[in-house]
Amino acid sequence: MTEVLVTGGAGYIGSHVVRALAAGNFVPIVYDNLEGGFREAVAGFELIEGDIGDYAKLARVFEERDIRCVMNFASHIAVGESVADPLKYYDNNVGRTIVLFRAMKDAGVRDFIFSSSAAVYGDPDVVPIPEESPLCPASPYGRTKYFIEEMLRDLGISDGFRSVSLRYFNAAGADPTGDIGERHSPETHLIPLVLRAAIDPGYAITVFGRDYDTPDGTCVRDYIHVNDLADAHVRALLRLLAGGASAVYNLGNGSGFSVLEVIEAARRVSGRAIGAVDGPRRSGDPARLVASSRRANEELGWAPVYTDLDGIVETAWRWERSGKRKAY
Ligand SMILES: NC(=O)c1ccc[n+]([C@@H]2O[C@H](COP(=O)([O-])OP(=O)(O)OC[C@H]3O[C@@H](n4cnc5c(N)ncnc54)[C@H](O)[C@@H]3O)[C@@H](O)[C@H]2O)c1
Repeated sequence: MTEVLVTGGAGYIGSHVVRALAAGNFVPIVYDNLEGGFREAVAGFELIEGDIGDYAKLARVFEERDIRCVMNFASHIAVGESVADPLKYYDNNVGRTIVLFRAMKDAGVRDFIFSSSAAVYGDPDVVPIPEESPLCPASPYGRTKYFIEEMLRDLGISDGFRSVSLRYFNAAGADPTGDIGERHSPETHLIPLVLRAAIDPGYAITVFGRDYDTPDGTCVRDYIHVNDLADAHVRALLRLLAGGASAVYNLGNGSGFSVLEVIEAARRVSGRAIGAVDGPRRSGDPARLVASSRRANEELGWAPVYTDLDGIVETAWRWERSGKRKAY
């Protein structure tokens, strides 16, 4: 059976992809430093505790195992923090990924699937955003994703790397079983924070800006269910295994929902009151980010299953009520 090294696989999205890989009869080997991930998120799967910046450890894994492809989720992920501390982001998301590339190259592993982001587009002119849109990241975080995509292009020419870069929009929801889900700490993402307000009457969600050029004045985002993302990873892997060329795909739902619409959905799903307060706009927050995922649909045969916002929020609500999150 085909072994896939899932770096950063003990985190939110990686742990869902690990399950999808196993369901597709692949053998996921999780490699994670557990800085932001959790052992219990990948219970029942092989976990190697290690850093993608540790060349010797990676070299040993490549030597001892028969890894066919690397899927890399390992990254720092908070846009605001990347503005305050860019070196932390360039070190982890770029510097250590280069170490991973070097270890792959030396071991003769050339297939790579990359967690890129809608953040590579910055504030786009055309929405829904096609992949050909200009890349103009507005934060160090977004630039780290852009740099890795560029590096992958270069490594394709120089060393025969074949890669699929998946530009996720806003990952959301949880496995419907409720046993794994979104668990960042500090949590910066909207849906878990809105659901926190549903659970804790002492907590209110902050709405950052009500004067955007959108129907209700709040930011519009494209929420894509984490299991739909997981399905796209398996399809991307099958593409590479079948000898397909390197590619870049947006992964989104294709419909945008405003902050106020998300709060309303959470009220409906939870049946609870949700406290909200107004805050100022956050710099670098575009009014609307919505994906065109036509290319992924045409070339990977991928389409999201969770197209309805309430359905996505419902899976997140089940997870948040499970008590497994522990901290925000
Ligand atoms: N969550 C989103 O909405 C979203 C959107 C676009 C892109 N992404 C990208 O998807 C990927 C996964 O995001 P997530 O939400 O699951 O984040 P996460 O923090 O839950 O998972 C990241 C994992 O990487 C591990 N990690 C970080 N640095 C490492 C290192 N140097 N060595 C080994 N392991 C390391 C962490 O311990 C964690 O388990 C990231 O690359 C992120 O930039 C996420």
